[in-house]
Amino acid sequence: MRAAEQFGTPFHLYDEKGIRETARRVQAAFSWAPDYMEYFAVKALPNPQILTIMREEGCGLDCSSETELLLAQRTGFFGEKIMFSANSMPAGEFALARSLQAIINLDDVSDIDILEKNGGIPETVCVRYNTGGNFTMNGNQIMGNPGEAKYGWTTEQLKPGLKRLKDMGVKRFGLHAFLASNMTDPGYYPALAKILMETAASMEKETGLNCAFINLSGGIGIPYRPEQKPVDVLAVGEEVRKVYTDVFGAPEKGKPGIKTELGRYMTGPHGFVVTRAVHEKNTYKHYIGVDACAVQLIRPAMYGAYHEISVVGRENAPKDHLYDITGCLCENNDKFAIDRLMPEIHVGDLLIIHDAGAHAFAMGYQYNGRLRTAEVLYQQDGTFRLIRRAETPEDYFATMVWD
Ligand SMILES: Cc1ncc(COP(=O)(O)O)c(C=O)c1O
Repeated sequence: MRAAEQFGTPFHLYDEKGIRETARRVQAAFSWAPDYMEYFAVKALPNPQILTIMREEGCGLDCSSETELLLAQRTGFFGEKIMFSANSMPAGEFALARSLQAIINLDDVSDIDILEKNGGIPETVCVRYNTGGNFTMNGNQIMGNPGEAKYGWTTEQLKPGLKRLKDMGVKRFGLHAFLASNMTDPGYYPALAKILMETAASMEKETGLNCAFINLSGGIGIPYRPEQKPVDVLAVGEEVRKVYTDVFGAPEKGKPGIKTELGRYMTGPHGFVVTRAVHEKNTYKHYIGVDACAVQLIRPAMYGAYHEISVVGRENAPKDHLYDITGCLCENNDKFAIDRLMPEIHVGDLLIIHDAGAHAFAMGYQYNGRLRTAEVLYQQDGTFRLIRRAETPEDYFATMVWD
C-alpha cells in the first residue's frame, strides 16, 4: 500500500470523498427542515483539515471545551455555526463561547447563573434535556439509561428553568437530548424527535417562549460488525419529518428548526488505522503483535468494542486462523481483537483496522510513552496528504520541567 511506504506505520487514514458524501447525504435527509444544520461533533475527529471539509459542506461544529472552541475559531467557524455543549466545565469557557457568539447548550439549571456572569444570557438558549429512567424503543426494548447519565435537566426542572430564562431576556429556546449512543436502529432519531418535539410544544405553551430548534444531537451508529447494516439516514430524516408534522404541522420557515450533532456517523466509517504485524507469538494463545496500540484506538480496550480488521492482499483468503491481535502497550487489555478468525498473518503484513474515523485518534493518550501517530487524508484527487504529523519524543518531553 502506497501510503504505508510514504508515511510509515502506524497511522490514521481518512477518506475525504466518503466524508463529503456522508455529509451531503445527512444534509439531504433533513433538507425539508427549517434552519437545518449538522454541527459535526469536534470530539469525534478534531483535525482542522477535517473541520474545513465540514465547513465546505455547510456544516457547523459542536464544541465541548475551550480548546475545541479555539480550534473551531481557527478553522473559520463563528456565531451560529458553533454549538457549545459542555458539561461541568470551567466558567470561563462560557465567556469564550459567548465572545464567539456560539449557541450555548446549558447542561444544568445552575449553568444559568454561571452564564449570566460569564458572557451574559443571549436571546436564544439551548437546554439539554434528560428524560431520566430508561430510554425504550420498539415496545419495551431498553436502548439507553439516561437516568444514570450525568447530563441534562430533569423533566421537573424544564418549566421553572425556562421561565427563569424568559425573565432574564431569553426569547427562544432550543431543546437538546442525547439518550443513547451508536444506535444502528433507524428508529432512534424519530423516537427521540417525538420526545423532544412534544416536550418543546408543551414548554412553548407553559412558558410563552418560542421553540427555536430541536437538537437531536449525535448517536446515530455505524455498522462496526460486517453483518450489521448501515443506517439509511434518508429514511431516518423522512421519519423525523413525519413526527415533526404531527407535532408542529407542515415544516416551514419560522417554525422550530432541526439541528444534529453527529460525529460517529459522519466520519467513523471513513477512517482506518493502518498498522503492521511486527510479532508472532505462540503461547497459550496465538498472538499477532502489531505496531499500533490502544493509543491509536482505545475503543476495543475500553468498551470491548468490535472493529473489523483486514489483512492487505488477503481480503478474500479463508479466515481459518484464530488470533488475538495485540498492541504494544504493557496492558493486557491492549488487544484489537480476541479469538478472531482471520486469514493467515505473517510478520510484515499490513493490517487495516476499520471504522476508526471517529472517537479513535481523538481518544488517544501517551501511556508507556507511546506517542500519537500521524493522520493522513486520502484526497479526492487520489493523493495522500499528511494532515497531522506523528508526535516525537521531543513533543512528549516539551511540557515536562527538566531543571
Ligand atoms: C453533546 C454531544 N453531541 C454529539 C456527540 C456525538 O456523538 P456521536 O459521535 O455518537 O454521533 C457527542 C458524543 O459524545 C456529545 O457528547
